[in-house]
Amino acid sequence: MLLISFSIQIKTTAKEGMWIPATLKAHEKDMKAEGLEIPIDKIYNENGTGLNNAVVLFGRGCTGEIISTKGLVLTNHHCGYGSVQGFSNTENDYFANGFWAKNMKEELPCKGLTVTFIRRMENVTDKVLAGIGDTIRDSIRDTLIAKRISAIEKDYMKSTGMDASIKPYFKGNQYWIAITQTYKDIRLVGFPPNGIGAFGGDVENWMWPRHTGDFSMFRVYAGQDNSPADYAATNKPYNAESFFHINVSGYKEGDFTMVYGFPGTTEEYISSYALKQVYSIADPISIACRTRKLDVWSKHMDLSRETFLKYTSKRAGVANGWKKWQGEVAGLKVNDVMGKKQAFEKSFQAWAVADKAADYAADLLPQMRTAAESMDQLLTEDLYNREAAFGVELISQGAALENVIKCFRLNLSGDALTDTLKKVMKGMEWFSKNYDAATDKDVFISLMTVYFTKNAYSLPPYFKEQYLAHGQDIINWAYDIYNTTLLASQEKLNTFAENAIPADSTKILKDPAWQLYNALNILRKGKIVAALNDYNARMKYLNRLYMKAQMEKNKTKVFYPDANLTLRVSYGQVKGLKPDGPAKYSYQTTLGEVVALDDSTSDIFKVPKKLKELYRTRDYGRWGVNGTMPVAFLASNHTSGGNSGSPVLNSKGELIGTNFDRAFEGTMSDYYFDPNRCRNISVDIRYTLFIIDKFGGAGWLIDEMDIAGGSQKAKVKSKK
Ligand code: ARG
Ligand code: ASP
Repeated sequence: MLLISFSIQIKTTAKEGMWIPATLKAHEKDMKAEGLEIPIDKIYNENGTGLNNAVVLFGRGCTGEIISTKGLVLTNHHCGYGSVQGFSNTENDYFANGFWAKNMKEELPCKGLTVTFIRRMENVTDKVLAGIGDTIRDSIRDTLIAKRISAIEKDYMKSTGMDASIKPYFKGNQYWIAITQTYKDIRLVGFPPNGIGAFGGDVENWMWPRHTGDFSMFRVYAGQDNSPADYAATNKPYNAESFFHINVSGYKEGDFTMVYGFPGTTEEYISSYALKQVYSIADPISIACRTRKLDVWSKHMDLSRETFLKYTSKRAGVANGWKKWQGEVAGLKVNDVMGKKQAFEKSFQAWAVADKAADYAADLLPQMRTAAESMDQLLTEDLYNREAAFGVELISQGAALENVIKCFRLNLSGDALTDTLKKVMKGMEWFSKNYDAATDKDVFISLMTVYFTKNAYSLPPYFKEQYLAHGQDIINWAYDIYNTTLLASQEKLNTFAENAIPADSTKILKDPAWQLYNALNILRKGKIVAALNDYNARMKYLNRLYMKAQMEKNKTKVFYPDANLTLRVSYGQVKGLKPDGPAKYSYQTTLGEVVALDDSTSDIFKVPKKLKELYRTRDYGRWGVNGTMPVAFLASNHTSGGNSGSPVLNSKGELIGTNFDRAFEGTMSDYYFDPNRCRNISVDIRYTLFIIDKFGGAGWLIDEMDIAGGSQKAKVKSKK
């Protein structure tokens, strides 16, 4: 048979940009051309009905979405992880077994967890900056601005009865106020076991193809008038006027998508000089130090289950940055971002010199270059201080001994002294619980080897003395430290507290952990901190003007502000990844691929029995598609850290997934967005619903949601 191929012009645009929702009108035409089917004011408006009221800042660094009128919040598994750790123990191991409340009474209040709604945003640049020149000294400027900000915030709080906070955008060339409400009674509703929610662990982290059901569910509770209230058993589920409707009819490659959430930090307008520091100093040093630390940790974790449990969450944190930076360095290189920046800077400089109106601009790049280059050495040293020296847990924990020393300064004795000390020691229990001195000793040996070779000329004097005193033998030195220090175990700390007399303060002052910490601190305070602060202040000033000039140079371009953990909308398409030739993988993964990875001997690739059974019988209910179960998908939305948990929406603004990561090839998107390589990764909403319904048996939650599309059966409510 002859195949006729039509070459249909499929739009290949991936869209760089994280837009302030209140400015989306300016993009309406483009978004509609890309496929958006709803008016912009459904996405954002100020009368309480916009979708902005359904996206929340979850905790301090994630995003969540409201998916029912009763305040149900969907976010990532890794965003709920910390809260669940608080409830998990060997009897109730929610990481191993998951957690599904059977009704509202079973939902678990999460101490300290908050959820923040953005009711409205307003550009207050004129109010903040009126009459304040661009080039007056920052010290004066900042004080003036801070005063105004606090007065404006107060006004808004008074007139709205809500919280208000102003943040700088475009490096301080714009200011926006957000009118917010922060709810403090948040309860855990559903959490899949790690075998689903963290499936693939660090191996699959930052990678495509991906097989993780990275979601969890919480509920917002409110006081009697639906306003924020402290936890109370009598609080009611937050009554949400605006929430996300779910669509389970799926998507295909090329379909329009939006991500609505809180990206944390990006530096898209950075100079080549500062970028060079990222990829030639910060990233490589951090990667090298962390490679050593992770090697040691993994070795010990493989040998002992106890050590494994102590370090699994710490390892995830350390490995997350470590892997992302490797993707970043590679991506910056592949794209020759330095070359692109330099070319831009050349044209910028030519413009700045020629344009009389922007007389402040001609000097910016040379000044940035001088400032940056003069800091390279100090930045290098400080990275070794932070990643190699403070990378040893014993040394960073030395800070806690400061509190012990403070107790002695109170001039207490007898029971008063021991009781106070016992309290301080109690505060260290969390550290001790997750600490293994033998593991850390090997980290010390490995990291000090780098510290002494790569940072030889800038070592704290105490480090050098000790090294010499131990015959230049790091192993010998380590042996001494870990034998002597009180931090080696909680028992040692407790025994010390119980028997302490006032003269024992000298024992702390002589403790090697304290001495190491103190020596580093003195060095940093003397040589580094002030210089760094000056440098950052200088760069803040230059970056503000550089940003302003970049916008002036290109008046027709619509700029987006760098991420600053405020509400943004990105838009793009469902899209596979083929950076260097034909795509190796589909844009979507399925449950069959999850089960194919099953490995009962692996901690991260072990598929739960019940999930395998559901797969074997293809028991997908209304969530499957012709006998397959979608798991995760790729799209080309511009996202960053903080976008975890963000709703991923179709052209009608309906929920089709929950964002949780980016592909390795594109993690440089925090500095440079390449439409061919930058992809966000989301859990398919159908997988989420399938796990809740069929795996968790929590159909009562499905009944709260508003679900459209899918097969005929989808119209039938699930059984309770
Ligand atoms: N890389 C994702 C993000 O930056 C997910 C991290 C959690 N998962 C993990 N395996 N550590 O947050
Ligand atoms: N995983 C990230 C987060 O937790 C998202 C990202 O960096 O793409 O916010």
